[in-house]
Amino acid sequence: MRMYDLIYKKKYGEKLSKEEIDFIVQGYTKGDIPDYQMSAFLMAVCLKGMDMEETTNLTLSMRDSGETLDLSKIHGIKVDKHSTGGVGDKTSLCLSAMVAACGVPVAKMSGRGLGHTGGTIDKLESIKGFSTSISGEQFFENVNRIKMAIMGQTADLAPADKKIYALRDVTATVDCIPLIASSIMSKKLASGADAIVLDVKMGSGAFMKTLDDAIALADTMVKIGTMAGKHTSAVITNMDQPLGLAVGNSLEVIEAINLLKGQGPKDLLEDCMALGCLMLIGGGVAKDHDDAEKMLLQTIEDGSALKKFAEFVEAQGGSLEFIYDTDKFEKAQYVEPVLSPVSGYVSHIQTDEIGMCSLILGGGRETKDSVIDLSVGLILNKKLGDKVEKGEPLAYIHSNDQAKTKAAIERFLNAYTISDNFTDEVKTIYAKVTSSGIIKF
Ligand code: URA
Repeated sequence: MRMYDLIYKKKYGEKLSKEEIDFIVQGYTKGDIPDYQMSAFLMAVCLKGMDMEETTNLTLSMRDSGETLDLSKIHGIKVDKHSTGGVGDKTSLCLSAMVAACGVPVAKMSGRGLGHTGGTIDKLESIKGFSTSISGEQFFENVNRIKMAIMGQTADLAPADKKIYALRDVTATVDCIPLIASSIMSKKLASGADAIVLDVKMGSGAFMKTLDDAIALADTMVKIGTMAGKHTSAVITNMDQPLGLAVGNSLEVIEAINLLKGQGPKDLLEDCMALGCLMLIGGGVAKDHDDAEKMLLQTIEDGSALKKFAEFVEAQGGSLEFIYDTDKFEKAQYVEPVLSPVSGYVSHIQTDEIGMCSLILGGGRETKDSVIDLSVGLILNKKLGDKVEKGEPLAYIHSNDQAKTKAAIERFLNAYTISDNFTDEVKTIYAKVTSSGIIKF
């Protein structure tokens, strides 16, 4: 087999066999296929696509490129949740505690921030003493004992994806459904959970900009998971604005804790409820959506989700004081309002740019080795559809550097559109995709 011939075949939209896809993935992972040939192949996939069988074969080949985790030491049906990436998305923190409090084991592998999107591991490190570098044994022990543990992704999980993703990032081949679906699902399948719930983000802060594309991506991932024998479902959620009000590592953890105390923003709670219901159904503890909804709300009302979060933090070395008194989190030195230059309604938010504001304040990585400032970020005061008067704060910038504050304010103002027109009701959840079909809301 020759890589040249396979690139040629895909260039003309021909279907590749399982053996051909294995040849490409294995050859590239081992270093036998050079970056320039792989780049040409990835671009051909972007332009000509892959059918369901090819996409599934690509996913399985990437899954098998490294270690696959065996979670059989954990009792019960293990449910994993994955978001395709967004701004202000702290769902994993609060949702995991709510679901674990309902008795479903949450054994989660999470990542660090990427580009304008934040990462769960970075966020959790804003809790003093907290460590995600725990051993596999400790991870299993914690999930069996308290039903919840989060650790960093091991280096050997789907190494083909790591290499291919880095190449896609610099060859304009990220926003392609078969490539995104195989990238995410190869890691999820290698992580060993029995059931997978996907949060597919759609809008100005997401890879998928339209509902049709988001549904196509969700449907592809649900089909791959189902074919691989995992109970897989997805919700399509709004990323036309940040989720909740907080963007930035410690600010997001505080918001997640506040949600567990019953004081969270409405859209964050809606996101947690939609995903949580699928997790409880996938985990076999709720018979239907209504049953699951009642159980999840109960964990907030009776404080069991907050208690679960505290147990989880303590088991991974974090300080409990931070959970019960969020004033303990390190604060940024300056809090500066971003004042609206005009009166009107917030009609558009360029959400990835809001993520970039947090990044330039020091809350994200400019390079792989950047050290991030966990205390900086933004708290939004106005979101889509809100009425705003000239001079009223749109947001508050939390910063440790006045020059960076100035740059962030400028960028923030360019990301917000204020107009005379009132925007209709803003939805949080657009659709649900399961193996039985697609429901639009
Ligand atoms: N997240 C991933 O892990 N892979 C993609 O391709 C896109 C988002």
